[in-house]
Amino acid sequence: MSAPPELPEIVSRAFDVSRKAGYVSFCRNETGRLLAALAATRSGTMAEFGTGCGVGTAWLRSGLRGDATILTAELDARLADAAAEIFEDDPQVEVRSADWSTLLDQGPFSLLFLDSGEPTEVGVDQVADLVEAGGIVVLDDFQPCEMWPPVTYGRVDTLREQWLTDERFTAVEVMVAPDASVVLATKR
Ligand SMILES: C[S@@+](CC[C@H](N)C(=O)[O-])C[C@H]1O[C@@H](n2cnc3c(N)ncnc32)[C@H](O)[C@@H]1O
Repeated sequence: MSAPPELPEIVSRAFDVSRKAGYVSFCRNETGRLLAALAATRSGTMAEFGTGCGVGTAWLRSGLRGDATILTAELDARLADAAAEIFEDDPQVEVRSADWSTLLDQGPFSLLFLDSGEPTEVGVDQVADLVEAGGIVVLDDFQPCEMWPPVTYGRVDTLREQWLTDERFTAVEVMVAPDASVVLATKR
């Protein structure tokens, strides 16, 4: 994948905070660039489930336009506090130290980045109503697979299968690198 080596300033700041916190479970830059490009198409409120140390949030922020906002939730208070530091002077980003389920009454969202790392919690049924019509759901961390149904580590990947076939969404798996893909699902 071709991309300029420079990172947006806010993303570099998020990497510094991650490094200080000893946290490495952030989205890769290829996914980040996709998040930024998608965020640039959005208005209203975007949400992220699973902030980590704020790297994905920072990529979303780097693409934000106008008065769109980002609401992100992180279960681990230490990580949430570290991420909040990155955006402390930014009225367009709110980092909540909370379970993402506490955001259920804050939607519908124009973009939802599902990155809490708990596949069973982010099935279509759990989150479909949180997304506005035309809103985009992004699921990270898949291994590209040419089979149908998709298989990971010898088993059918039912989460990916579900997202790619649900009638409430128009969905596609997109490779962001030779060894990494994301699922994009747009609410009908
Ligand atoms: C893969 S990391 C997030 C990375 C981040 N989105 C990024 O791109 O830099 C997953 C995070 O989700 C958090 N998490 C797990 N379950 C959660 C929940 N129910 N609510 C909020 N955060 C959760 C974990 O503590 C972990 O920090």
